[in-house]
Amino acid sequence: MYSDERRSRNYYQGRARWYDWANRAVALLRGVSGTRERRQAIEHLALRPGARVLEVSVGTGTNLPLISTALGGDVRLAGLDISPAMLDRCRWKLRSRKLEADLIEGEAAHLPFAGGAFDAVLHHGGLAEFGDRKGAIAEMVRVAKQGARVVICDVGVPTDRRLSLVNRLLLRLQPQYEQPPPLDLIPAGVADLNLSWFHGGAWYLIEFVVV
Ligand SMILES: C[S@@+](CC[C@H](N)C(=O)[O-])C[C@H]1O[C@@H](n2cnc3c(N)ncnc32)[C@H](O)[C@@H]1O
Repeated sequence: MYSDERRSRNYYQGRARWYDWANRAVALLRGVSGTRERRQAIEHLALRPGARVLEVSVGTGTNLPLISTALGGDVRLAGLDISPAMLDRCRWKLRSRKLEADLIEGEAAHLPFAGGAFDAVLHHGGLAEFGDRKGAIAEMVRVAKQGARVVICDVGVPTDRRLSLVNRLLLRLQPQYEQPPPLDLIPAGVADLNLSWFHGGAWYLIEFVVV
């Protein structure tokens, strides 16, 4: 495990209990609905009924019920995360909603899945902290089927336009916001590669189709 991975694991181990509360508080401060923003990201997966969907760095699993609802429950969910404490919260959340998912403790740059196993792959937050971002993205592509959509989103602000006060503050407080969207790390040969901004222009969303 890279030292960045160890640091990240320890960080989330200590914050798992508060993670959902903190997210809600931040959304409240920004005057937005965190759920609506998550649904936006999920819409970009263009899911079909019966899909097998993987979320890499699933955290406390907030996106999984939203994915399930989007498909009327006709979905096979899997989630991987480096932090056992985040996965425990995720299990608890799924139990309380009577949902099932394969939850696996693991590292994004070494996914324990066969190639072409998933109809869609989502990553929603965390990439900026990974030690091996290129490896993690390559793995997301490897485990996606031909024709599957991959959606990768994380913190970051566009530097080619005037930033809002909140985004300027975020840049000062959290160095991860300075990282440009990792378009240079997307493997060659994917189709329909697109970059957009959401979360009030404080997150990027990269999407593409695996060919
Ligand atoms: C910002 S949280 C995002 C959680 C969730 N996707 C969400 O939307 O709320 C980042 C997650 O990435 C996980 N993580 C950090 N480094 C990782 C790595 N190298 N491999 C897998 N997961 C990792 C953390 O444990 C944490 O749960």
